Amino acid sequence: MSSKVQTLGEFIIGNQSEFAYSTGELSRLINSIRLAAKVVNHEVNKAGLVDITGAVGDTNIQGEEQQKLDVYANEKFIQTLTNREIVCGIASEEEDDFITIKGHNKDHQNKYVVLIDPLDGSSNIDVNISVGTIFSIYRRITPEGTPVTLKDFLQPGRNQVAAGYIMYGTSTMMVYTTGHGVNGFTLNPAIGTYYLSHPNIKLAETGKIYSINEGNYIKFPQGVKNYLKYCQLEEEDRPYTSRYIGSLVADIHRNMLKGGIYIYPETSTAPNGKLRLLYECNPMAMIVEQAGGKASDGFTRILDIQPTELHQRVPFFCGSKKMVEKAEEFMQKEG
Ligand code: AHG
Ligand code: MN
Ligand code: MN
Ligand code: MN
Repeated sequence: MSSKVQTLGEFIIGNQSEFAYSTGELSRLINSIRLAAKVVNHEVNKAGLVDITGAVGDTNIQGEEQQKLDVYANEKFIQTLTNREIVCGIASEEEDDFITIKGHNKDHQNKYVVLIDPLDGSSNIDVNISVGTIFSIYRRITPEGTPVTLKDFLQPGRNQVAAGYIMYGTSTMMVYTTGHGVNGFTLNPAIGTYYLSHPNIKLAETGKIYSINEGNYIKFPQGVKNYLKYCQLEEEDRPYTSRYIGSLVADIHRNMLKGGIYIYPETSTAPNGKLRLLYECNPMAMIVEQAGGKASDGFTRILDIQPTELHQRVPFFCGSKKMVEKAEEFMQKEG
């Protein structure tokens, strides 16, 4: 890569003034996430060589079997953010409850809370398929100097000050937004530096890819069944191509670059779908909207949903604006 290409470190410093409350705290927080992601990346890359694949034998609060890398990534992100005294609280897919961080001499003075899916797509680890990390950052709403409360975490997604994902894929990328567009950085593993490889990512208004776990077809609501039929019709620019990796980060990342729609709907056995509003849907919705796309639960904008619980699930329709609008039309017709 040419030496003129900006590194993530340079980019963060150069764009600090764009941040909502430009004190440098958010920059340092994003830097800490970048650092933890490098450590996790190193471990993910060793999967298959050392004993880090497979299950640990525990179930998390989501009712899922925890994988070793779920636990490792969770620990690394929490450790890094806690040691650097950069946030006042963390909520994670892998933790039952949120974590309060007082700071050594800080008495709860930090401003930001982080919500995180430390390892996304963990069922793909053992088979060398892309996995990721998703993060979401809010400014606390309770007064600084007091311990964080659940209220600080249950804010609607539109309050996010930053959101991003790291994809441990063919190459490792960090893609994030602070509300001024979306930028993607690729890690050069030889020197451990991320470079701005995808400036100002824009999601095509429409696309030709649909991503959904079609094995659940029988359990889908009628609106989704009808939309899938529409995607498969030989008409205009259809049939569309079906692509489903089963790692949200990888499925969304592909659609961000190529255009497309991702759907994880409610099913007859999972009335709110599978994906978590706070750790998965809100950050992805902010990123996708910042790139010109759209995200909804089929009826309501994801970022306008008032969360009621930490581990809340929500149906998710996300991607190219026109495709999401079309899917919503089908959902709303069936009411
Ligand atoms: P996680 O690994 O963080 O628990 O997330 C799993 C999610 C998401 O990554 C993926 O898109 C979805 O589960 C796949 O679910 P299905 O296997 O039901 O399709
Ligand atoms: Mn999980
Ligand atoms: Mn996930
Ligand atoms: Mn996860």
